[in-house]
Amino acid sequence: MHGGRGGHGGGPGERARPGGPDGGDRAGEAGDGDRAGGTGDGGWDGWRAAAERALYGPGGFYLRPEGPAGHFRTSVHASPLFARAVARLLLRTYEDLGGPERLPRIDLVDIGAGRGELLTGVLAALPDGVEVRPYGVEKAPRPPGLDRRVEWCAEPPRGVRGLVFANEWLDNVPVDVAETDPSGVPRYVEVRADGGERLGAPVAGADARWLERWWPLAGLPAGRRAEIGRPRDAAWAAAVGTLAGGLAVAVDYAHTLAARPPFGTLSGFAGGREVRPVPDGSCDITAHVALDACAAAPAAVAATELLTQREALARLGVSGARPPLALASADPAAYVRALAGAGEAAELTSRGGLGDFGWLQQRV
Ligand SMILES: C[S@@+](CC[C@H](N)C(=O)[O-])C[C@H]1O[C@@H](n2cnc3c(N)ncnc32)[C@H](O)[C@@H]1O
Repeated sequence: MHGGRGGHGGGPGERARPGGPDGGDRAGEAGDGDRAGGTGDGGWDGWRAAAERALYGPGGFYLRPEGPAGHFRTSVHASPLFARAVARLLLRTYEDLGGPERLPRIDLVDIGAGRGELLTGVLAALPDGVEVRPYGVEKAPRPPGLDRRVEWCAEPPRGVRGLVFANEWLDNVPVDVAETDPSGVPRYVEVRADGGERLGAPVAGADARWLERWWPLAGLPAGRRAEIGRPRDAAWAAAVGTLAGGLAVAVDYAHTLAARPPFGTLSGFAGGREVRPVPDGSCDITAHVALDACAAAPAAVAATELLTQREALARLGVSGARPPLALASADPAAYVRALAGAGEAAELTSRGGLGDFGWLQQRV
């Protein structure tokens, strides 16, 4: 769904995910070079376990010093307008919770916080006098030089009142992959550390029920694939469950039941480019998120909205509209500034790009 790709100024590219087959090589004949890495039979493992190890295990992709921003751009890196919009959302959430009269300070929890870039931008954008308690939830260690107010933690804090925000977190919660065999039976896809794949056991139990409900595959022609989003549903439900009051927002490239990609979306990213997904720690391993399934996972929410980033940012005052031409003659410097801002906003809200991302908003 997200067609744009490529870095700006030689930097890392946006993580654009194709909707088609991932192009990964099938495993060759037995004996064609199993490598160390898998914990399963002869180095074979399900994609969930393999990606978990490759991304977050010792020497894992996301624990490397360069961080995600060394490999691709998210909305956070694309423009400071994104952090300013999140600051606005935080202030609105504060108002909804009754403001400083009812709540001496508001919590801001960024899950999958990268190197704290979003928190840094939000703190800079907030007006003086707003009391905020910021948390960065990350598997990677606290980045040097981060604002001392930020509490850096491995798990989301519980009982928070405020805004829980997760930009491009859920796509990096590892999932298993299913593929139909020639009889139309969905089977787990197994992978080796070199990226070779083979079909394993039929998908069973809770995973099979998840597929049936959210991404039906059974009976389809051979080679149809789905990512089994159950771990993401659970991760999201747990994140929403940490809120004592406020709003939880997950932002990601997403699909819904009406339009699941027929061959799945598993992909790899490294150094600003899309690469073959190989679970050896050399690249990001990601797949679009079934955000409608995540939306149904939390036990109790007061309200749910699923909208595009374009719609969500428009509500927060970010649009790609060009400034009025009259400004060019009245105040040329202001016009140039406004034009640059409009360019950044256009990237955040673009069709076929970041603007198509899903925003799942749930109020507690
Ligand atoms: C694609 S990056 C996004 C970083 C940042 N939110 C942004 O938008 O630029 C995903 C981040 O989520 C982190 N992450 C993934 N699973 C996590 C978990 N269960 N708990 C904390 N952090 C996690 C990864 O380490 C990585 O830094």
